[in-house]
Amino acid sequence: MIIEPRTRGFICLTSHPKGCEQNVIDQIEYVTSKGEIEGPKKVLVIGASTGFGLASRITSAFGSNASTIGVFLEKPPTEGRPASPGWYNSAYFEEQAHKAGLYAKSINGDAFSHEIKKQTVDLIKADLGKIDLVIYSLASPVRVHPDSGEKFKSVLKPLEGVFTNNTVDFHTGVVSEISIEPGNQEDIDNTVTVMGGEDWGFWIDALQEADVLAPGFKTVAYSYIGSELTEAVYRKGTIGRAKDHLEATAFTITDKLKALEGKAYVSVNKALVTQASSAIPVIPLYISLLYKVMKEKGLHEGCIEQIQRLFSERLYAETTETDEKGRIRVDDWEMRDDVQAEVARLWKEATTETLPTLGDLEGYNTDFFNLFGFKVEGIDYDEDVNEMVEIPGLQ
Ligand code: NAD
Ligand code: NA
Repeated sequence: MIIEPRTRGFICLTSHPKGCEQNVIDQIEYVTSKGEIEGPKKVLVIGASTGFGLASRITSAFGSNASTIGVFLEKPPTEGRPASPGWYNSAYFEEQAHKAGLYAKSINGDAFSHEIKKQTVDLIKADLGKIDLVIYSLASPVRVHPDSGEKFKSVLKPLEGVFTNNTVDFHTGVVSEISIEPGNQEDIDNTVTVMGGEDWGFWIDALQEADVLAPGFKTVAYSYIGSELTEAVYRKGTIGRAKDHLEATAFTITDKLKALEGKAYVSVNKALVTQASSAIPVIPLYISLLYKVMKEKGLHEGCIEQIQRLFSERLYAETTETDEKGRIRVDDWEMRDDVQAEVARLWKEATTETLPTLGDLEGYNTDFFNLFGFKVEGIDYDEDVNEMVEIPGLQ
């Protein structure tokens, strides 16, 4: 079929297999070009199909020749209807890994459930024995709690009164003011249940009970802090409470890993265009200004550059540097004073008329379509492509 982008709001309903394949190949080439990292050998990535999780899987495999198991929740294709992009990403990642002689298998299902944890544990036991790294990179708006069956929804709300600021519709380029009503305690609780650390802890408990963690085992979950411009809706909002909880969970997990001399980390990553971040109000305007400033200063990174740096210069460096709260920081360039000052200056001037030159709206837009395999360089979008792609090592 010939596949074109069809967008609805913050999402794209279609995805292009060839574009997704090219994205995976480009990421593999980047990691390979940076040389070998003396890193992990047997890795489980939870949320492995897109964004930071996919980049973590690629960096493990192609930076350190690691065997990888990926867990994700993606929609398979049906005749005439393309799969979700993470499906294609995983299919082509596995194809490339197998070509390189690397073990790679995947599990598609709800990572929050007991069933998927059990299936993953069984696969590790059967194929890998013990693993030495777990990356936790889930981003989900909902979670069905595995014990009660209750469904929780996360929300993106401020907590200190009504928050009014500018935002941009990145499809039309229109900058407008929005006001977001503050959340209440129930909103906080729901968001913490979905995006906090409980499930990360459940995963490590399940893996530890099954005795599949190797001595010196590490686990990393991803967090975000960001600027003063976005803190009301992000770090000081409902999602920020979930990130506080995730960061606190790293310490609880580390305590449980003592006998193994294991360690749980949170890595704070930079703001990037992903399916998850496109849905957060105000963030797209911030990102389009941030991209402009960071590109001009030669500091811009995508997911793969971030994760390659995380592995080579933090996690598997001689010493793993952390901040005063024990967190790894690869958002250091985003948070540089000169970068933040410039973004704050541009923020005041950004209007529908000025944003195309002040900000990198085009870069935002391209990155957004790239997530779905569109606007990827070298792809002929008039070509008939097979949407019925299988993931070779899908369990
Ligand atoms: P993403 O949307 O690209 O990836 C989410 C992954 O989770 C996908 O692999 C998806 O299949 C999987 N997933 C979602 N629900 C699932 C479920 N129920 N069961 C199994 N898999 C499921 O998101 P991302 O932006 O890469 O986010 C990953 C983490 O990084 C999040 O914790 C996010 O907060 C954090 N982070 C993101 C940014 C950013 O700017 N995008 C910055 C810093 C940190
Ligand atoms: Na991810």
